[in-house]
Amino acid sequence: GVYSFEDSPYIMEILTELRDKDTDSIKFRKGLVKLGRYMGYEITKTMDVEKVKVETPLEETEGIIVKDRRNVVIITVLRAAIPFMEGLIKVFEHARVGIVSAARGKPPKFEIEMNYIKIPQITPEDTVIVADPMIATGSTLLRVLEEVKKYGTPKRTLVVGVLAAPEGITRIKEKFPEVEIFVAKIDRELNDKGYILPGLGDAGDRAFG
Ligand code: PRP
Repeated sequence: GVYSFEDSPYIMEILTELRDKDTDSIKFRKGLVKLGRYMGYEITKTMDVEKVKVETPLEETEGIIVKDRRNVVIITVLRAAIPFMEGLIKVFEHARVGIVSAARGKPPKFEIEMNYIKIPQITPEDTVIVADPMIATGSTLLRVLEEVKKYGTPKRTLVVGVLAAPEGITRIKEKFPEVEIFVAKIDRELNDKGYILPGLGDAGDRAFG
């Protein structure tokens, strides 16, 4: 499935702030952390829960734990996913974290260079969250997903981003139909430089200068 959070007013307000060209890098980074936190919260609604008994100071009652929240592997795609991951970790505080670099090459081929790869072992209980704020052509994620596969087969693989272009989503879905995609919003299109329109510019540059 492909899910966006367009009906969540607060997520849309944070996105609006990120889009604004006058938002400086301090606010931009904070916005990415916030989106990670609130999108992470939304994603817990899709996770398996388990009933538990809990003792209040007065009596015993029923409660739940979000079981899958405890078995999360976040794959952080440098650079822009760093603040985004920080937000996700506020919800998935047990997460093991993989870090990969995947720099987009020049048009027209946009070939991906992966110079740094550090990914923990993935087990069948795990939910893998590949965090990358921008899904443009999808080339980065296709390459990253190919790499992540080598570390084990998880229960679920989610791609979590801020904005996606329809082109990128289509390419990922073609190659990895089992992967679930969660983005704040699906934007209109890509320009000829591979930037998402209307988009928010280059997320890595805006966050880190
Ligand atoms: C951006 C973005 C994604 C990628 C998306 O990273 O953060 O990783 O491009 O493009 P694609 O879907 O067409 O592959 P960039 O290469 O600008 O690196 P940066 O985050 O270090 O700035």
